[in-house]
Parts: sequence; structure tokens; C-alpha cells
Amino acid sequence: MVNTKVSLCGIELDNPIIPASGTFGYGAEFAKLYDIDCLGTFSFKGTTREPRFGNPTPRIAEAPGGMLNSVGLQNPGIDHVIEHELPEMKRYFHKPVMANVSGFSVEEFAEVCGRLDTCEQVGWLEVNISCPNVHGGGMSFGTDAKMAARVTSAVKRATRKPVLMKLSPNVTDIAEIARACADAGADGISLINTLMGMRIDPRRRAPILANRTGGLSGGAVFPIALRMVWQVYEVVDVPIVGLGGVRSAEDAIEMMLAGATAVEVGAENLVNPFACRNIVNELPAAMEKYGIRDLNEIIGGAH
Ligand code: SIN
Repeated sequence: MVNTKVSLCGIELDNPIIPASGTFGYGAEFAKLYDIDCLGTFSFKGTTREPRFGNPTPRIAEAPGGMLNSVGLQNPGIDHVIEHELPEMKRYFHKPVMANVSGFSVEEFAEVCGRLDTCEQVGWLEVNISCPNVHGGGMSFGTDAKMAARVTSAVKRATRKPVLMKLSPNVTDIAEIARACADAGADGISLINTLMGMRIDPRRRAPILANRTGGLSGGAVFPIALRMVWQVYEVVDVPIVGLGGVRSAEDAIEMMLAGATAVEVGAENLVNPFACRNIVNELPAAMEKYGIRDLNEIIGGAH
């Protein structure tokens, strides 16, 4: 019998497996396929103050070992999430959920987090300062340490819930940004978001994505994500949620050895909608294979 329970910012998870924001909606479609209470939790679609239609199409392109997206933070807005999505979610998910928050100003991040502060279903706020697909927001907050710290402080003033800052890999020094967020009061760090990339259609001699560039995710980015989780673990004392190209229970174990307390699974949900359930089910056998009795023993264990 192995122990898969971990504690993320003071809230216990039955296991560390978390579908990543933007790949799981609000969970409803997946709940029709399997009982999503088997998950540690899930991170719901990035929510902004106003509803957003997102970027023009096409906004998905294939890539070797993964995919590019330029969705552009499509979401129904915070009012709709609080009035409709969260009450609906009560019918099919019975654990604290992770709320992913996006914004175009420091004030917007704080306001949306403040609105979610009173929602009892929300366990953690994952503040996305790393979306590469929007202009004047998103990643621009996560590529500058001072700006990342400003968002963190503002959000922390707006909520009593644990705040995880979601970082961009599109930086020279990920450790500097992570340290700035932790120093500004972040309760945890989640990383990585997608890497900026591009595809060109040779027939049209033009970018495939209407937004020209997009974020690369999928198996190809796993070694980069792992390296960055490793680097961040060396410089912060707060828990890390590791994501980027995780596709199996063995990948999750690697992420935890690099320093992650919990592990998000993103693009793989789009390849196989049962991916997260399969990883949860395969985790005990993978632990036994490597002689792991308790996942807590391996967090950062490769340092
Ligand atoms: C998007 O909506 O563009 C994807 C979200 C993100 O990359 O942060």
C-alpha cells in the first residue's frame, strides 16, 4: 500500500494529479466520461473580468511532439463563472477546485481574485501571468520580476486563499521571477506555461495561426519544464506545481523528484481525454516500481 496523498498550500490532495487550465474547461465534459473526483483537483479555464471571445481562428496547429495554441483567453467572464459554472460544478466535482485567473492590469487580477475569495468551492487561485497569446496582458506580467511581484502583492491583498503564481518559460532567468513572486508573498509557484512558437503553411507562405504565434505544449516541452522546476526548487521555499509535457505516471514522478509537490497535465488531455484518470490509476504501480512508499518522500529528491 503506497501513499499518494500530498498537501498543497495546506489543502490535502488524494493524489498530486491536476488537469491543467485550458485543457479541461470546467470539468463538465470530462465528468461525462469518468468520475473526476478521482483527481487531486483540476485547474479551470483562465478567467478574466469580462467575457472574452478569444483570438481569431485558426488557433491550433500541430507540432512535432506537441501542439501550438493561440486561444487568447476565451472565457465567459467572472460573473458567469460565479453564477453558473461553480454552482453547476457542485453536481459533478466534490473537492476544492483550483481557479485560474488571467488579466490585463494589476487591478483586474486583484479584482477577479477578490471575487473568487468568497467562493467556498475554490481552494487555490492560480494566477496566470504567463499567457503568450494576448497583447497588453498575460505574459507581459510574467517576464519582468518587478511586475510579477506587483501582481502577486495586489492579489495577496485581495484574497485569503492560497495564491499560486503561474510562470512563463519565455524568460532568461526563471529563478529570478519565481523568487520575486515568493518574496512578494506567493503561497506557491506553478510552472511552466507554454513556449512561444510558430508554424508556417508553405502553400500559403503565411503563418498557420491567425495570431501568427502560439504557445507550444506537449511532450516536447517536458525536459524544459523539468529543468525549470528544478531551478525554481533551488531558490524558493514555497510549494511548486510542475507542468509541461507530462504524459504518464513516470513523468509525474520525475517532476516530483525535480521539486514539484503536485503535477498538472495539459496537452495530453486533448490527445486522450482519459489521460489524467489513467495517470492516477497507474501512479501506485509506478511508485512500487521505483520503491516509493510515500510521494512526500520524493519531492525534490533528485537535488
Ligand atoms: C490561451 O487562452 O491563450 C491559453 C492560456 C495560456 O497560455 O495561458
